[in-house]
Amino acid sequence: MLAALLLLAITTAPAQDSLGPGEPAWLAYRPVNPAAVFPNGVPDTVVVLGSDVLENSASRELALGWRGMLQYEPRVVTGANAQLARAVVVGTQAEVTTWRASLNDGKSLAPDSYRLRRTGDILIVEGGDPRGVLYGVFALLRRIAEEHSLATLDESSGPADSIRWTNEWDNPNGTIERGYAGPSIFFKDGKVRADLSRAAAYARLLSSIGINGCTINNVNANIGLLKPENLADIAHIASVFRVYGVRLSLSIDMSSPQALGGLKTFDPLDPEVAAWWKSKVDEIYRAIPDFGGVLIKADSEGRPGPLQYGRTPAHAANVVARALQPHGGIVLYRGFVYNNHLDWHDMKADRARAGVDNFHTLDGKFDDNVIVLIKHGPIDFQAREPVSPLFAALPHTNQAIELQITQEYTGQQRHLVYLVPMWKEALDTDMRASLAGPPLTVKQIVSGRNIAHEHHTAGGFAGVANVGTDGWLGHPLALANLYGFGRLAWDSNLTAAAISDEWTRLTFGNDPEVRAVVNKLELDSWHIYESYTGPLGVGTLTDIIGIHFGPGIESAERNGWGQWIRADNNGIGMDRTVATGTGYIGQYPAPLAAKYESLATCPDELLLFMHHVPYSYRLHSGKTVMQHIDDTHYWGADAAAAQVPIWESLHGKVPDATYAEVLKRLQFQAGHAVVWRDAITQWFTKMSGLPDAENRVDHYPNRIEAESMQRSARPRSPGTSLTAGTT
Ligand code: GCU
Repeated sequence: MLAALLLLAITTAPAQDSLGPGEPAWLAYRPVNPAAVFPNGVPDTVVVLGSDVLENSASRELALGWRGMLQYEPRVVTGANAQLARAVVVGTQAEVTTWRASLNDGKSLAPDSYRLRRTGDILIVEGGDPRGVLYGVFALLRRIAEEHSLATLDESSGPADSIRWTNEWDNPNGTIERGYAGPSIFFKDGKVRADLSRAAAYARLLSSIGINGCTINNVNANIGLLKPENLADIAHIASVFRVYGVRLSLSIDMSSPQALGGLKTFDPLDPEVAAWWKSKVDEIYRAIPDFGGVLIKADSEGRPGPLQYGRTPAHAANVVARALQPHGGIVLYRGFVYNNHLDWHDMKADRARAGVDNFHTLDGKFDDNVIVLIKHGPIDFQAREPVSPLFAALPHTNQAIELQITQEYTGQQRHLVYLVPMWKEALDTDMRASLAGPPLTVKQIVSGRNIAHEHHTAGGFAGVANVGTDGWLGHPLALANLYGFGRLAWDSNLTAAAISDEWTRLTFGNDPEVRAVVNKLELDSWHIYESYTGPLGVGTLTDIIGIHFGPGIESAERNGWGQWIRADNNGIGMDRTVATGTGYIGQYPAPLAAKYESLATCPDELLLFMHHVPYSYRLHSGKTVMQHIDDTHYWGADAAAAQVPIWESLHGKVPDATYAEVLKRLQFQAGHAVVWRDAITQWFTKMSGLPDAENRVDHYPNRIEAESMQRSARPRSPGTSLTAGTT
């Protein structure tokens, strides 16, 4: 009987859900030399002027930093009357002014901004609001971790953009779409996890780099999450986020009024549908008063959307935005709307055109709290794409840039790829309408500031992070991407090198040798990965039908997904010209369109994205396309292999577990780069019939293989091939 009762107790006990906080990542707070930072002595007191929850987090964080880096337990006091000798005083600008009116020099701080100053033996961290106070504390702790002297200090900083969100593609069952670091930190078995300590630790990490919002569920949204019982649980996640100033957001499904609400329709212009959204949003705010807003994917890859009723993305976005507006919530409506059943026989069909084709007539028709979220390239987070022309097509619409931190097409965190240089290229692209005008970069467009002729009220960055329980992102060096995303969203003028160095110092300390090695690995990595995968902008060439990992060249062709490379015996590349191709290039503003349309000025790295050329076509580099493919792939695989001994030089200089994990992944990458190299060089050699000048690739002179490959390829239509370049 007792045994039976025990068994019953065991089988009905709630599942264990103990996650722990996870790795500290860049908040390692390693010991520093206190004399280097505080030549006149370490402040021994932390004075917190206010009592806001974010100021409490700020003081807790200071104490943690002091303990870890300065090996000192500070006295933490609240209120303005503390007796001070050497102290750090934290508060909002208003609180600091009340404390000492003489410190008010008229420079006012915007929300989220901070100022760090020294007056005598007192350091002051002042925020435009409590969130700014917390950001200021993290900035001060960065200075200390990097061992900068704080003998003098007066610096202010504020974010360029108001929207700085990560999006997590987590499903209620605990899986993560395109997640490569273990299961969800939010959900398990269809429910919000009982243990949210990792969610709290994640919010702390996000806050330390200025991220102020996080969408916790997959863009391919699960309708059930909006049920009242689930909202009550989701509110727990919002509570742990709130402590770090991160607002929670949800991905929603546009068919919810019908599928969940039981209405006959989800037509966004139907008054009952509008009323349903209003009531659902009110319900969300009752559970989560600081709810950030929603992310919407519709009419794309099988998701329901307004098109079904002949309505537009603006109708869909606005009906939800109007429900959110009284509460201060926003809609991020994704510009990633395309038809994945394109006719591959149609030489004018082009997935890259979809963004502009679907949205340009809607410019100015979105409500002010709608932000169109645009993937940085027109296809889908490939290793090389031009910037999306949609950024230039919506001058009267709020825009944000969508970047992918999780490495879906870029090696799934089993290959090292530091993505910040790639993102910087997109952000720095000049989209001005005419060369006579001032520059208009993508980073200016998404911040919506200083652009005289445009109407933007909000903008920013959303990054698909997909962190999991396994070291947040799996590959320890991939954390530089999450860090870099946040830093760029704060200040997109930071360089890729500066961000890598900051991250390295915070993660591994200030040893110059460690910095040199890690920075080299990070900064070389995108170029190396690109070299042994898809060449010249043709696409990543991963297996797109399967898991988007490893070479799968043919998978791009002859299906409706539109990631075509248009390769046959004679040539390769999508002809996107206005003259003979899909006309995509004409979607760019005139200066960029002219640059891409002409073979003389199209950059080599985008050649096959923009043009169809013979394999014998000679690049600006002087090499033929085919020889470039062979050379870069052999170089890239060698460079991937060379990363291993470079990392090995850090044995004993970085934590053992991190050393071993990175080594394992770099070794895998070196082997996989050879698989990539051989797959690509052999496939293209057979397809082109052109031998490698250095004889490294098997060659089939009678072209039997090539002809059999060609049999399955579609016939090329006339007018798409260019005259052969010289070989
Ligand atoms: C890619 C990705 C999907 C994702 C989609 C999106 O296609 O493979 O998993 O749903 O992007 O961004 O919506």
